[in-house]
Formats: sequence, C-alpha cells, structure tokens
Amino acid sequence: MAAPPVVDARGLTKVYGSRRVVDGLTFAVASGEALGLLGPNGAGKTTTIRMVTCFAPPTAGTLVVVGFPMTPARHAAIKARLGIMQQEESLDPDLSVEKNLTVYASYFGLGHAEAARRAEELMRFTELAERRGEHIRTLSGGMKRRLMLARALLNDPVLLVLDEPTTGLDPQARRLVWERVRALKRRGTTILLTTHYMDEAAQLCDRLIIMDDGRIVAEGRPADLVAAHVGSEVVEVYASGAEESALGRLTDGPWRSERVGDVLYLYLRDGQVSSAMFSALEGLDFTRRRASLEDVFLTLTGHALRD
Ligand SMILES: Nc1ncnc2c1ncn2[C@@H]1O[C@H](COP(=O)(O)OP(=O)(O)OP(=O)(O)O)[C@@H](O)[C@H]1O
Ligand SMILES: [Mg+2]
Repeated sequence: MAAPPVVDARGLTKVYGSRRVVDGLTFAVASGEALGLLGPNGAGKTTTIRMVTCFAPPTAGTLVVVGFPMTPARHAAIKARLGIMQQEESLDPDLSVEKNLTVYASYFGLGHAEAARRAEELMRFTELAERRGEHIRTLSGGMKRRLMLARALLNDPVLLVLDEPTTGLDPQARRLVWERVRALKRRGTTILLTTHYMDEAAQLCDRLIIMDDGRIVAEGRPADLVAAHVGSEVVEVYASGAEESALGRLTDGPWRSERVGDVLYLYLRDGQVSSAMFSALEGLDFTRRRASLEDVFLTLTGHALRD
C-alpha cells in the first residue's frame, strides 16, 4: 500500500479581511515527492506555506501534515517533523553561525553533544564550517540562506518546506543549494518549495502547482505542463520596424500567437514547425527556442505586473 501523503490539503482557505488570499486549495504532497508552488507575487504561496507550517491557522478546509490534523494541540508534534526555511531572513543577528544552529537545536530537545554534532555536520553540508565563529551581520546574503537551510535540517525533518530558497543568490550559491536539496531528496526527504525561478522549479520538482489569486490554475510534471500549455517551440519575433502585413501572416497561422509590447510570440506544437512557417519569417528579426516553463507561467498567469 502506498504511504499516506505527507501533506493533505482539502479546500484550504485563508481569508484576511475581505480577501480570500488562499481560496479552496486541494492538493497533496506524496511521501518522497518534491512539489513546487509557483505563482506571481501575491498569489498566496507564502500564506499556503504558513498554514502548512503551523504559522497561520486556516480559515476553512482540512489540512493534515506529517500524519497529524492541523490543530493547535498537534502543532508541537508537527513542528518536530518539519524543517522550515522562510522567505524572510530570520536568523539571530547577535549569535554566531554555529550558535544559531546549536541554540535552535535545543528547541528540538537535542542535548549539547548531539546539537554540536548536528551543527558540525550541517555547517559542512552547507559549506559554512569556515565561518562558524562569525556573526550573522557579517555574512553575505547567500551565506545567510545556506545557514537557514542548515537550520531547517537540524531535526532531520520528514518534510522540508522551502519558501524561495535561492532568491537573491548568485549562480554558484544557487547551484550549491540545488545540489543539497537533491541530496536530501535522494535520502527520501519530502519537499514543498516555492520559487520564482522556473529553471529551479524544473530542476528540483517532480510536480508543480501553478497558483494565481489563491487558486490552482494548473498542476502537473514540469515537462507535461510545457507540452500541454505551450507546445514544443517558441519563436519570438521582434516586431518594431516590421511590416504589419508580415506580422499578420504569422498571426494568421494555426499556432497560438501573442503580442506583448514589441515582441510577437508564436507558440508551436510539434507538427507546426514547418518550412512554410519559417519562410513567413523571412526578413524578420526573430529567435527560435524550446518552449519552457516560463512560457507556461506567462501563458497561465498573464504578462501584467502583480501586487
Ligand atoms: N498577515 C496578512 N494580513 C493581510 N494580508 C496578508 C497577510 N499576509 C499576506 N497577505 C496578503 O495575501 C496575499 C498573498 O500573499 P503571499 O505572501 O501569500 O503571496 P506570495 O504568493 O507568497 O507572494 P510573493 O511571491 O511575493 O512572495 C497578498 O496580497 C498579501 O498582501
Ligand atoms: Mg511569498
């Protein structure tokens, strides 16, 4: 029999004032799965995560996390099995790197020796061992994110929740975090994460939920979402200076097209990538590329700025 889901949310809702910030989300995270929550700013990702991690009580719906119903009486049991890396930095600025870990470990009831051992192991895992004595205010943004990841792992969590784990990191630091998350995944840790980086979502997540305005707009494996909502290739035509008749030939095709500012996007499915289509592009300034998750995101949530 399959293991029960690590997160089971049904009709999960959060209302602030008169706004339904999270509006009836139903989703599950299977044991060992990495699920990504995507969505524009203000879509309700962090609010969803705050409900899953005992920081905000749901207004309605049912929520079961690591086998326990989400009620105040179960918060301690749930938190003992969760690792949380919040969107906002929440380290203790007056403590050293090492102390941030050992003090936090004591909240989980780890004894001195065990806390020191775990802290050591995790400083190595996140490549912070050489910084152990430094105060938080002297660390770079990337080091702080890595320390927050280390802290989230102190209790060897069943479910690791990462709210934008690599926002603001340089490419090297992002890759280090990805590699570490993959290592945790191989060990069977279940992961719930949010990100605005589509490459990160495609790299780390088995399955994605795209949300907008508190609701799910699409759900599936990254490659399946691309195939279902966009196709196989995208041609971007730079429309400024191009003749409208030439652009018209392209928008009249059997493929989906969309004009955003000076760029005309043509979304092509397998059979539509033809020599006829490319002859219609003659004389125009364009690039051709594989369809990506970013195309899915923009197709489903639009090009307008949020929040
Ligand atoms: N404590 C609160 N009180 C009132 N409104 C809130 C509160 N927390 C969040 N909101 C509102 O709920 C909406 C969703 O916010 P949330 O932080 O969940 O979005 P998000 O998807 O995480 O966005 P981002 O990508 O910018 O992090 C926003 O409009 C936000 O202003
Ligand atoms: Mg957020």
